Amino acid sequence: MIYVLGSINYDISLELERMPKKGETLLADGCGTGLGGKGANQAVAIARLARKYDDGRRSVKMIGRVGNDAMGAELMQKLDDYGVDTEFVRKVNRSTGLAMVSVSGKDNRIVVYSGANLGFTKSDVDEALEHATSADTLLCQLEVPLYIVGYALRKARAIGMTTILNPAPAKELPDDFYYNVDIIVPNELETQELTGINPRDESSQLAAMEKLLEKGVRYAALTLGANGAAISDGEKVTGHIPARKVSVVDTTGAGDTFVGALALTYPHVGMYSFKEACLFATKAASLTVSRHGAAASIPTFEEVCELYNNEIK
Ligand code: RIB
Repeated sequence: MIYVLGSINYDISLELERMPKKGETLLADGCGTGLGGKGANQAVAIARLARKYDDGRRSVKMIGRVGNDAMGAELMQKLDDYGVDTEFVRKVNRSTGLAMVSVSGKDNRIVVYSGANLGFTKSDVDEALEHATSADTLLCQLEVPLYIVGYALRKARAIGMTTILNPAPAKELPDDFYYNVDIIVPNELETQELTGINPRDESSQLAAMEKLLEKGVRYAALTLGANGAAISDGEKVTGHIPARKVSVVDTTGAGDTFVGALALTYPHVGMYSFKEACLFATKAASLTVSRHGAAASIPTFEEVCELYNNEIK
């Protein structure tokens, strides 16, 4: 089982010809609403890419919070429809998290109002992980309170679970965080925030990953957008995975698809090597960028297989 501790947002996406300047009002070319939030997107990626059990069992449990409002109800329903187990998603008396996503060409800019996502308590974590075992995985991001993420990672480590951290949005982390993380998956901005190194070429990517491994994580995968990913376990696996060439419609959720796909394939299934899992994750993410929206743009396993046919191992 994979437990995803993280945010659930109601995304409002605006398609723009270009980003507005300071003080300017722009008219959008299109608008969409839907399920988002880094936690929810990653949980959806796992559910969509996982094998389906005949007995209806689900591969992913979301630990999250939505408001007791119409948006919260809609998002809960969407999570369920996508195949995410919502037993540990609480409805609380705060407004549901909201994200304004401006999309223009290959760029996006996101502003989040956290709302219910800030209301986590340690008992949410205790309750959700009560029956977790060392065969399970915990996946976190940083759109919920940092001390809760730290607490969950410590607890998961004590249980012997595999732990994965997508340190997004970028934030400085206390040193003891790294000791409880097996796999860290930052993007370029987050890598720079955590290591002080801009991963713009092969040598800076290697230096940044080395720094992360020195801090205590076991594996690092840097997601580099159109430049693919750089990966390292510090010993046997070090390398670069090129991005797939696709026509980009909206990059929202691409990083989340990569993280979810990696969380699913590497530690859980056990039949992929770290490099193969990252290759699969890159392919899944390349489909996400060819569609609009966040959770709604994440492909199923069959769609990834169909597109890449023999390339999937
Ligand atoms: O990673 C994309 C997500 O970031 C969006 O869905 C938005 O809700 C923000 O959390």
